[in-house]
Amino acid sequence: MDGMSDGFGMRTPGTGVFMSGTSQSAVRPPELLHLPAGQVLRRRSTVSDQAFIDAVTADLEHLKVWLPWAQEPPTAEETAYHRARQDANWEAGTSFSYLLTPADSAEQVLGGCAMFPTAGQGVLEIGYWLCSPQVGRGLASQSAAALTEAGLALPGIRRMEIHCDRANIRSAAVPERLGYTLERIEPDEPLTPAEIGQSMVWTQGRRQRTAGASSSVRSASLAVSRILRSGRRSSR
Ligand SMILES: CC(C)(COP(=O)(O)OP(=O)(O)OC[C@H]1O[C@@H](n2cnc3c(N)ncnc32)[C@H](O)[C@@H]1OP(=O)(O)O)[C@@H](O)C(=O)NCCC(=O)NCCS
Repeated sequence: MDGMSDGFGMRTPGTGVFMSGTSQSAVRPPELLHLPAGQVLRRRSTVSDQAFIDAVTADLEHLKVWLPWAQEPPTAEETAYHRARQDANWEAGTSFSYLLTPADSAEQVLGGCAMFPTAGQGVLEIGYWLCSPQVGRGLASQSAAALTEAGLALPGIRRMEIHCDRANIRSAAVPERLGYTLERIEPDEPLTPAEIGQSMVWTQGRRQRTAGASSSVRSASLAVSRILRSGRRSSR
């Protein structure tokens, strides 16, 4: 995710991409998304700043390789600033930041992900990161599957994108696993020393959503659909 230093890799959003602009009319995804593996994605502001700071600080060597915002331990002040901005963006319906935690604890951060406006109307980009002990368990793919489902369920959203530097093999495997299509590779300014400045742009539209996914992720995606549907029913 080739974004700026706001703790999630998202660019500064412009105007709302899929709703009319006032916070009353904004449409937002669920604040809580359950992953098939049992962990949950929680709206960023429902997790403490300290839990975020602790997780990122403990794993800086792993995260700084690919995340421009994780070059230094986050301070309390900048973490509060970005959390407040992410919360305002959520309320405005422009971008949606989550932290990954165990189901029974909002105070242990396992990773994070977000959906944010990217190139053009009706498109949301997904970004993700995991703490190193969580790598290799499918949690990034399940998180991205949940956000793909939730994003494409929002009115006006017709396409989801995942951007990653071509050298970030583990990251590129996520959209591939989910049946995204590699639409293009474009030049991009490297933001960490590991990046080679070639950004892969993976896309998934509404019709593609289940057709191309591998069977394990497809069943994960269906489980997420069921969870989203029951969440919507119970939140009414
Ligand atoms: C990018 C990043 C999130 C990918 O993490 P990851 O653990 O490789 O991806 P997943 O969590 O989807 O796990 C996939 C692995 O779990 C396995 N797996 C186990 N259960 C699975 C399931 N139910 N579904 C999918 N995969 C599963 C897969 O086979 C795969 O194994 P492999 O590592 O042997 O290929 C991680 O490397 C990271 O945090 N990097 C630093 C930050 C970063 O680069 N962010 C992206 C910037 S563009």
